[in-house]
Amino acid sequence: MGYAIRTDHLRKVYPGAKGGSAALEDLSLDIPDGRVYGVIGRNGAGKTTFLRIAATQLERSSGSATVLGHDVATEERAIRARIACVPQESRPLYFLNVEEVVYLYLKLRGLDPAESRTRTKDALDQLSLTEFRRRSVARLSGGLRRRVLCAMVLASDAEILFLDEPTTGLDPIARREVWEAIRRAIRERRTILLTTHYLDEAEALSTRLALFERGRLVLEGTPEDLRARVRFPYRVTIYGSVPRAELESYGRVSAIEGGSLVFAREAESRELARMALERGLRVSLGPVSLEDIFLEVVGKSIDDETPPPEVES
Ligand SMILES: Nc1ncnc2c1ncn2[C@@H]1O[C@H](COP(=O)(O)OP(=O)(O)OP(=O)(O)O)[C@@H](O)[C@H]1O
Ligand SMILES: [Mg+2]
Repeated sequence: MGYAIRTDHLRKVYPGAKGGSAALEDLSLDIPDGRVYGVIGRNGAGKTTFLRIAATQLERSSGSATVLGHDVATEERAIRARIACVPQESRPLYFLNVEEVVYLYLKLRGLDPAESRTRTKDALDQLSLTEFRRRSVARLSGGLRRRVLCAMVLASDAEILFLDEPTTGLDPIARREVWEAIRRAIRERRTILLTTHYLDEAEALSTRLALFERGRLVLEGTPEDLRARVRFPYRVTIYGSVPRAELESYGRVSAIEGGSLVFAREAESRELARMALERGLRVSLGPVSLEDIFLEVVGKSIDDETPPPEVES
């Protein structure tokens, strides 16, 4: 296996940024090919900035980045032919209908008419867009427009797909159809760089993940690596009443509707679950979710170093 994207001390400062603050700082990442790589982080963390630099839509300030072995600063053309993007904000061509917009996109990428037609049909089927195929894109709802964009990119033959929040605004069924299409792209040995605020989605799809916080990489690895980095890798939910002081001897406790949630180490979590079961309480025990990790890591960094308040000048 090789690397699809590599960055070395990558930095981006937008012109006119307040106090010259960087949107990306010292980012060194190796993204393996043929997998889904997830990038997560709060609003403004630098996810889109990173994607846009890798997709050659935005210039870096310093450091370097290569995509499929090509330098983003000097070999944009070679890169652009081999990638496709679902941008965070976009307006597909409004005067075309759904089928035309996907078909034309594939034709423009250089696929022959027969193959473009087959791929268009497959993508529309897969994302349940066939019934809308003759509808003008201008008349679609926001979520359907987003699905059309996903269909265009997933139907392409690009080797790297940049998906910036592809499922934002999609209904739960459409989201899962996009997941399936992403999995299919991976079976075709393509690489996907995915950003999302749905951490269940990041966890379900990504082989490796990067957590950005204020332009910096704060955590990177497989979901298991990330789990191993947190103090309490297990969560125990207990429905019913147990004195808080007693629970606190096992780990970190928070109150939830009808009971308590305890984050604990493995041995303590088992012991706690056994104790609660013996008292006849309903219990669930499992590894922490990516969302738990996110809240712990990002929550702590907010406590450690409260950023200066945003003031409008
Ligand atoms: N065109 C721009 N000009 C100036 N500053 C920008 C521009 N685009 C983004 N920024 C700033 O760069 C930082 C990173 O923004 P970016 O859009 O990369 O974040 P993000 O992680 O994608 O956030 P979100 O989850 O909201 O999409 C933010 O502080 C943002 O205000
Ligand atoms: Mg973004």
